[in-house]
Amino acid sequence: MANLASIRQPVDREMREFQRHFKEAMRTSVPLLDHITRYIVRSKGKQMRPLLVYLSAAASGGTQERTHIAATLIELLHTATLVHDDVVDAAETRRGFLSINALWKSKIAVLVGDYLLSRGLLISMENDGIDLLRITSKAVEAMSEGELLQIEKARRLDITEAVYYEIIRRKTASLIAACCAAGAASAGADADRVELLRTFGEEMGIAFQIKDDLLDFAPSSITGKPSGGDVKERKMTLPLIHTLQSLKPLQRRAMVRGIKRSKDDPAEAQRIMDRIMEGPGMAYAETKMKAHRDRAIELLDALDDGAAKSALIDLVDFTISRKK
Ligand code: IPE
Ligand code: IPE
Ligand code: MG
Ligand code: MG
Repeated sequence: MANLASIRQPVDREMREFQRHFKEAMRTSVPLLDHITRYIVRSKGKQMRPLLVYLSAAASGGTQERTHIAATLIELLHTATLVHDDVVDAAETRRGFLSINALWKSKIAVLVGDYLLSRGLLISMENDGIDLLRITSKAVEAMSEGELLQIEKARRLDITEAVYYEIIRRKTASLIAACCAAGAASAGADADRVELLRTFGEEMGIAFQIKDDLLDFAPSSITGKPSGGDVKERKMTLPLIHTLQSLKPLQRRAMVRGIKRSKDDPAEAQRIMDRIMEGPGMAYAETKMKAHRDRAIELLDALDDGAAKSALIDLVDFTISRKK
């Protein structure tokens, strides 16, 4: 499997320039905010979204100045949603560091998330990026809808597989789709090409979130995020949904009761996780993830062969095999 460094190769110069843009975008004269945004820059993630923006641009004629705006805007939006998501999920760690809410409390994390969001909007407006905003603001709307739909379903613990896909399409795939669409649009691609890459990103994004949900069962020391957070927060992900489906009504009700207790009972949480890991749900989710990987890669058939297309294919494969 290709690693991120080699996948970055075709747009390595752009990714290095991105670091400068991203840092610059968060500069502020408010000391507390400056302190926190520096912390965010230091604890950076995989930066797969900017990479997707640049590769989509490269596959559509090449990076323009506006491509940097698109990449910066999207990583700011992504960072804002992570900061908020950790408040919502009461998560104490992120990227192997303490989360903003753990270090500075929730009220500060909420405000920092809003700040990052507004910086993204401003940078786009200042740089004539109304078309980029059109693409991304729909994604931001979908992300909030997805997270709220998830909370609604977590209350009742009765989600179906169809609703699960609806949630992850909105909360995760929409932004990954926007990366590809905005990257292509920034390079001056026509509407068909933008739509093709958007659909590619959506398929990849669904595979991406299924993988994230599988990684929730992996040790925190590897992922840098809490392990088992989804069960404790009553999030119904594909491995759990499928496990429940495979149980008889009596066992199913017992497992649902266990999930409800798991937040305050770490031993119970571990028992539930062990049962999911022993059951058919993990392999089932893998199969579904791979089907979305295949669909994403099939869509790329329409692109001319070249370094950017190969890197996009490798990035999809990285997405489904990554360890964090
Ligand atoms: C995490 O995204 C949030 C999800 C949508 C699952 P990433 O795994 O891309 O996070 P970082 O930016 O690399 O930390
Ligand atoms: C992704 O879901 C949430 C966002 C779209 C921000 P998760 O809640 O599973 O993401 P992680 O695992 O905390 O990164
Ligand atoms: Mg979370
Ligand atoms: Mg997760």
